[in-house]
Amino acid sequence: MKTHTLLMPLDMHLHLRDGVMLENIAPLSAYSFSGALVMPNLVPPVTSLEDIKAYKERIVAAVPNDYFEPYMTLFYKNYDKAFLESVAGHITAIKLYPAGITTNSEGGVSSFNVEEMRPTLEMMSLLGIPLCVHGETDGFVMDREAEFMSIYELLAKNFPKLKIIMEHITTKAAVDMLDKYENLYATVTVHHLIITLDDVAGGMLKPHLFCKPIAKRPEDREALLKVALEAHPKVMFGSDSAPHPQHKKESCGCAAGVFTAPIALQLLCDVFDKHDKLENLQAFVSDNAQNIYGICAEFKEVVLEKRPFVVPESYSGVVPMYAGETINWAIESVE
Ligand code: NCD
Ligand code: ZN
Repeated sequence: MKTHTLLMPLDMHLHLRDGVMLENIAPLSAYSFSGALVMPNLVPPVTSLEDIKAYKERIVAAVPNDYFEPYMTLFYKNYDKAFLESVAGHITAIKLYPAGITTNSEGGVSSFNVEEMRPTLEMMSLLGIPLCVHGETDGFVMDREAEFMSIYELLAKNFPKLKIIMEHITTKAAVDMLDKYENLYATVTVHHLIITLDDVAGGMLKPHLFCKPIAKRPEDREALLKVALEAHPKVMFGSDSAPHPQHKKESCGCAAGVFTAPIALQLLCDVFDKHDKLENLQAFVSDNAQNIYGICAEFKEVVLEKRPFVVPESYSGVVPMYAGETINWAIESVE
């Protein structure tokens, strides 16, 4: 039987939520990942040192039996120097959301005025705090990410010492930006390597594949596949696994988010195996992130096996991608 071993897998974009949802789903990531960059879009968002410390404690309490590092993020606002100095040792990045663009982002940035943002972004550059960005405008849904490229350019040019991570990129336009600016990096999800808009809305509507940014065109997926499969050193895996209760997905007014955390490594093995690039998966799912963020992940060895695995219909009331379907890889052991 074909197997593949991954060391210290990292998920550099994960929604863990809070309360009962956190308790139910955090163990699923902690089982197979060494750590994850935890998104701050709670209600209310994570905006103070107390919030960061308390949320981290709740995450750690939810995964008592696993070595799993929650890399914490702060919700972007214009913060002052003293505050940034006080939180720098407790966070791995700051996450910027344009106001209202996705789930729980109402308190985000409503205009990208460089001079208003300059004190915060210069201080972040000095302190070495990366800026993670949800890069979408409020334009036509298929064009939102491409339209945001001018804002990435504005930020990259004005703050050349700031590490800027283009989160969950979905377009060729974003891939093309990577090599244009030294300080731009990106995360890519597993679902955007697999699906296009056709899978979401081309036949019967698939609410469990609906997310922000929405899956795009085949040529966009090709561009993402290219940089992921070659494990481009500025690209890393971030699942953007975003659990919502089943009734919030299967409703009129479907919440955005694809839940992939428990099957992410299995699906990645399948994608890389199908393209004969399994040897590059280690860099995509761990090494690149450790280099980009300068982190040293907790030891974990995950052995995956190429055999049919039936994805559960639900994990504590959250429906995963491919629920009830058979995928080609399974987790064999974790040490
Ligand atoms: C995320 C969520 O539900 O928090 N949803 C999503 O579709 N990806 C927010 C986000 O990352 O946009
Ligand atoms: Zn997200």
